[in-house]
Amino acid sequence: MTPDFTISDLRRRPDFFDIVAERIWQAWWKRHDVPEVYIVERLRENMVGAGLPVALVAHREGDFLGTASLLVSDLDERPQYTPWVAAVWTEPEARRQGVAPALIDRACREALERGHSRVYLCAAPPRRAYYEHLGWTPVEDDVGPLKLTVFMREWPQIL
Ligand SMILES: CC(C)(COP(=O)(O)OP(=O)(O)OC[C@H]1O[C@@H](n2cnc3c(N)ncnc32)[C@H](O)[C@@H]1OP(=O)(O)O)[C@@H](O)C(=O)NCCC(=O)NCCS
Repeated sequence: MTPDFTISDLRRRPDFFDIVAERIWQAWWKRHDVPEVYIVERLRENMVGAGLPVALVAHREGDFLGTASLLVSDLDERPQYTPWVAAVWTEPEARRQGVAPALIDRACREALERGHSRVYLCAAPPRRAYYEHLGWTPVEDDVGPLKLTVFMREWPQIL
């Protein structure tokens, strides 16, 4: 079934910039006392040039549904891996409709278009089964203080 939502590069839909920054801050940084302005500045790096990082936004017309990013690096412990799908977020009322899988697939294609045939992602243990279900292969468990699992997905799974 064709999804009834659109995925756009945030560069093309800057009207979603503020909500993407706010959601990333709320979901992953606020609890660590990181100021929101720091996330705003990091997200601005997605708005220039054509390379990484890339921020994607899922939306139905003007309604924000979710976001995901493609980053050069997402885990200090594994600098040798690049690029990474990160900051995957779906609005609570838009969950279980395939928004995150569509964002992740698009992020992988953005990587492929830039010459990366292998993409990485890291997640906490409760999300392990979910990402395996989406076709990601666990590479390592228990990485870093958060005991993250590192996954990879590579061509031709990316298409
Ligand atoms: C994880 C998250 C991104 C999933 O987004 P989504 O757009 O709802 O993704 P899906 O449409 O694939 O639905 C996922 C849910 O449906 C479940 N699901 C997927 N296919 C299913 C199926 N066939 N039958 C039953 N459940 C199914 C998944 O287990 C998952 O459940 P959970 O959210 O309780 O873990 C979203 O829940 C979210 O934003 N969570 C908070 C932020 C977060 O944890 N991000 C991931 C960081 S690694």
